[in-house]
Amino acid sequence: MGDRAYLSKSYKNILVSGVSNEGILDTVLIQINRPDAMNALNIELMGEIAEVLKAADKDDKAGCSVITGNEKAFAAGVDIKEIAGPDSVEIYFREMFASWDVIRLVKKPIIAAVSGYALGGGCELTMLCDMIVASETAKFGQPEINLGVIPGAGGTQRLTRAAGKARAMEIVLTGRMVTSAEMHDMGLVTKVVPANKYLEEAISLAKSICSKPSVAVQLAKESILKSFDTTIETGIEFERKNFYLLFSTEDKMEGMKAFIEKRKPEWKNK
Ligand code: CAA
Repeated sequence: MGDRAYLSKSYKNILVSGVSNEGILDTVLIQINRPDAMNALNIELMGEIAEVLKAADKDDKAGCSVITGNEKAFAAGVDIKEIAGPDSVEIYFREMFASWDVIRLVKKPIIAAVSGYALGGGCELTMLCDMIVASETAKFGQPEINLGVIPGAGGTQRLTRAAGKARAMEIVLTGRMVTSAEMHDMGLVTKVVPANKYLEEAISLAKSICSKPSVAVQLAKESILKSFDTTIETGIEFERKNFYLLFSTEDKMEGMKAFIEKRKPEWKNK
């Protein structure tokens, strides 16, 4: 089940397509498409990304999503022209991060394929994704300090959890650009690849995930993310419940039976 109209719909700020993975689940490819504005993330654009990811969650034929930009920019931040005017009360009631909260709760894995600038909200969007494949020439950073503000889409939290206090402080307080290699050293980037390979590698990683049983993939993602907001005891209990839950899936029966019978499993994704 699941409506696939979201794959052929035309959006104002993004391009969306389904990448067929021959016999296994498809990858949903989302390309941020505001090249004249360095792919700046306005509220409408974030709403479109959230809409597609939610639809992909409900699509039984989709296993994983990839978000990318273009060679010059993944995204150079939240759209400054959209937030330059409002005062604090106005921006508070605008709920500019509502779609970010929706994306945070997406169940299927999301990979960011990054080339060029991933700054401010762009960097935060990559960190909101589950994995990042980055071109060796990509430039990350949280330059909000140069605008008189601070990261507002999770940057101070996600960067600090990975990089530690001292490095997060330096990056956020100076607003300098950060290389892919540094992001990789801090555990934020999964893989750094040659400049012409970032999308191909991200799509190949997505394909490998699409070949796995989807319910287990989604519960593994949920369990890993749980580790960011709980104690080790609660996290282990949560993981254990998800482990037990998977014992009611057809794929658990099939996976273990196939191992014992020395054959390849045939996943039903249920
Ligand atoms: N918002 C709106 N427009 C942006 C933008 C942004 N974040 N980043 C770039 N643009 C626009 C520019 O205004 C310019 O538009 P015009 O042609 O109409 O003038 C166009 O994109 C091309 O940009 P540049 O001419 O600046 O390109 P460049 O190659 O000289 O520089 C850059 C590239 C270093 C990325 C530079 O554009 C830049 O510094 N951008 C802003 C980065 C930034 O401060 N990001 C943080 C945003 S605030 C935020 O994200 C808040 C949050 O945490 C939630």
